Amino acid sequence: MDSILVKGNGALSGAIPIAGAKNACLTLMPATLLSDEPLTLTNAPRLSDIATMTQLLQSLGAEVASLQDGLVLALSSHSITNQKADYDIVRKMRASILVLGPMLARYGHAVVSLPGGCAIGARPVDLHLKALEAMGAELDLRDGYVHAKAPGGRLKGAVVEFPFVSVGATENALMAATLAKGTSVLKNAAREPEIVDLARCLRKMGARIEGEGTGEIVIEGTDRLHGATHPVVTDRIELGTYMLVPAICGGEVECLGGTLDLVGAFAEKLDAAGVSVTQTNRGLKVARKNGRVQAVNVTTEPFPGFPTDLQAQMMALLCTAEGTSVLEEKIFENRFMHAPELMRMGARIDVHGGTATVTGVDRLKGAPVMATDLRASVSLILAGLAAEGETLVSRVYHLDRGYERVEEKLRACGAQIERVSA
Ligand code: UD1
Repeated sequence: MDSILVKGNGALSGAIPIAGAKNACLTLMPATLLSDEPLTLTNAPRLSDIATMTQLLQSLGAEVASLQDGLVLALSSHSITNQKADYDIVRKMRASILVLGPMLARYGHAVVSLPGGCAIGARPVDLHLKALEAMGAELDLRDGYVHAKAPGGRLKGAVVEFPFVSVGATENALMAATLAKGTSVLKNAAREPEIVDLARCLRKMGARIEGEGTGEIVIEGTDRLHGATHPVVTDRIELGTYMLVPAICGGEVECLGGTLDLVGAFAEKLDAAGVSVTQTNRGLKVARKNGRVQAVNVTTEPFPGFPTDLQAQMMALLCTAEGTSVLEEKIFENRFMHAPELMRMGARIDVHGGTATVTGVDRLKGAPVMATDLRASVSLILAGLAAEGETLVSRVYHLDRGYERVEEKLRACGAQIERVSA
């Protein structure tokens, strides 16, 4: 199992290209199931989660070709042979549930394994299922699978009001509604840029959608969708992660392809902490304003609020800030597993339920630490870059799910980082 060895090396400066968004690509890929014509995605990220979704779609009979070193994905669902998404693949990645809505909408039936729990909390899929039921789906949960059927072979448009915001449930319902009979209204819909990107792609495929990026999305169902070519939106979480490099180490980093609209709430917190973020014609340039970063309080919220997927990385920064910061996690109940690992590096953190109180220390100290999930793993790398001495981060397979070529990107800014194979 690979580990990553990081040596604190002072200020880091340079330019880092930001990839296409993992979370957008993971919902754009299943959209292929909605049409028998080809879907081509450009600006795809090269990640193991994308390989898992490729494997899942191929298991259903879809064709998925990875071109141009993985940057282009050519998908086709003209000959789907199987409507069953097997537990062996689904258990690897929760986003697998996103094949349910499109398959049910196009074929009138689908069987998808329930994804099960995961390290950052229970993460049920009840909202996905309720939305599809509102569209007329008959669901039967047995043997760990959802057996779904649309009476008469077609879903019906419906008003779906989500009790709270769910990115995945909004995506599943949005895809399903494009081929349903009649109009659907998704209320309290997620507003994440990945949803906007999905709606744009679906519209290119012929779907009739209005209101994406607001809390209410209206979809007028259509009989069939056609092929399209679509570039995956920039990954705002990878962007935010690399914006933290100069914040935590000093120096100046330009994140190529970054735009402020993707990271508004996050950039505001950086500004309050004493880190400047400037839009250039190539991306976002980030540097400390002067001296040490100051403590700030952070509460995670659905977009446009501060993203839960940047909470662990922000905590790494605040571990070395001047003063005491309070981080409140409102999206996932168990998302502070990085805290004890950061404490092994000398951080002062007190966790009570969904709240972590972080008192900044002058300098973190390198230590062997363990990655527990995707975002936690990169927070430990950020901490290692700012720490005195060596940090060995083990279990980096989590990292490879969501960050492409992390060592290469950081080395280009002067970091001492290497992958160590056991
Ligand atoms: C997506 C992102 C993930 C991010 C999260 C929140 C992808 C592939 N993953 O995950 O990186 O952290 O949004 O921004 O895009 N919930 C239920 N029932 C449901 C669905 C969700 O109770 O049926 C709960 C979840 O447990 C969680 C909250 O709702 O507490 C929000 O989850 P959701 O927005 O659905 O996250 P995902 O789509 O799984």
